[in-house]
Amino acid sequence: MSALIRLEHLTRDFDVSKPWLNRVIERLPKATLRAVADVSLEVEENSVYALVGESGSGKSTIGRIIAGLVPASDGVVEIDGVDIVSGDAARIAEVRRELQMIFQDPYASLNPRWKVRDIIAEPVAVRGGDVSGLAERLLEQVGLSAADAGKFPHEFSGGQRQRICIARALASNPKIIICDEPTSALDVSVQSQVLNLMSDLREEMGLTYLFISHDLTVVQHMADRIGVLYLGALVEEAPRDRLFAAPKHPYTQMLFDAAPRMDAFGREVDPPKGEIPDAINPPPGCPYHPRCPLATERCRSEVPQPRMIGETRVRCHHAE
Ligand SMILES: Nc1ncnc2c1ncn2[C@@H]1O[C@H](COP(=O)(O)OP(=O)(O)O)[C@@H](O)[C@H]1O
Ligand SMILES: [Mg+2]
Repeated sequence: MSALIRLEHLTRDFDVSKPWLNRVIERLPKATLRAVADVSLEVEENSVYALVGESGSGKSTIGRIIAGLVPASDGVVEIDGVDIVSGDAARIAEVRRELQMIFQDPYASLNPRWKVRDIIAEPVAVRGGDVSGLAERLLEQVGLSAADAGKFPHEFSGGQRQRICIARALASNPKIIICDEPTSALDVSVQSQVLNLMSDLREEMGLTYLFISHDLTVVQHMADRIGVLYLGALVEEAPRDRLFAAPKHPYTQMLFDAAPRMDAFGREVDPPKGEIPDAINPPPGCPYHPRCPLATERCRSEVPQPRMIGETRVRCHHAE
């Protein structure tokens, strides 16, 4: 098995300073927000890697960097062996075609004035590919009917629309799909149908997923590996069964404690305990220490480096 996606020390900073004139008048320094902090991970071919973390932890930014929608500030991003930060432009364009992205809101990502046939076939049509019967075939593959090709997006339910988004993603025959909370906007019953479909498609077509979710229960059945993000940092990573059987990082443990309180729609009723600190002025040492029940003096001053405990890679001074 080889890694289809490889991130090494990936970092992304956003300039969140006030406009120059305000800074001068109010004597403010420049402000930087570190959305992704030194993230290294590998997604194996034909596997599902789940990135999990609370809102604002950097999940979408990582997905968007891999999809080429946001540039990295630092680090290495490799897709199918091609360095997409500093590699050869022609090869980058080639691997880009192997990758598709599915977003949370299936309505916003479908052009309301286009028939479903044109929406699905568009990525192939723009490259001059053969689109005859393509949309009809893909609609059946995602559990809709060929006759739906002549309809408009508003004629479908949320779950059906997400199926249309999946069909469009499949149209260009990708190897990798980045799924950014693809079921978070759906009712829980519909959610599991769409997840099952995505699971089946992965098996049938040998796809590789980077699956982004704020909800551990959503990725529980599908993920092969899980990475837990906190304030842009990968605090724990392990094979799915390891993570569920023996979460090592206190933050992962807290996410599990919070999980049963999710309501029927998979949204959090009670947010997990404690405030997420300000990402512009992150705490020194371990970013989790202000919320951590195990925090000691060392945690307040020394950033924990990743280390292996069995099959788990964890960034915590007290993971034992
Ligand atoms: N374009 C941007 N400009 C400034 N800050 C951003 C931008 N995009 C994301 N951020 C910030 O980066 C952090 C991570 O955001 P995001 O990747 O969307 O997290 P998630 O998907 O886990 O909710 C957040 O603090 C967010 O406000
Ligand atoms: Mg997001």
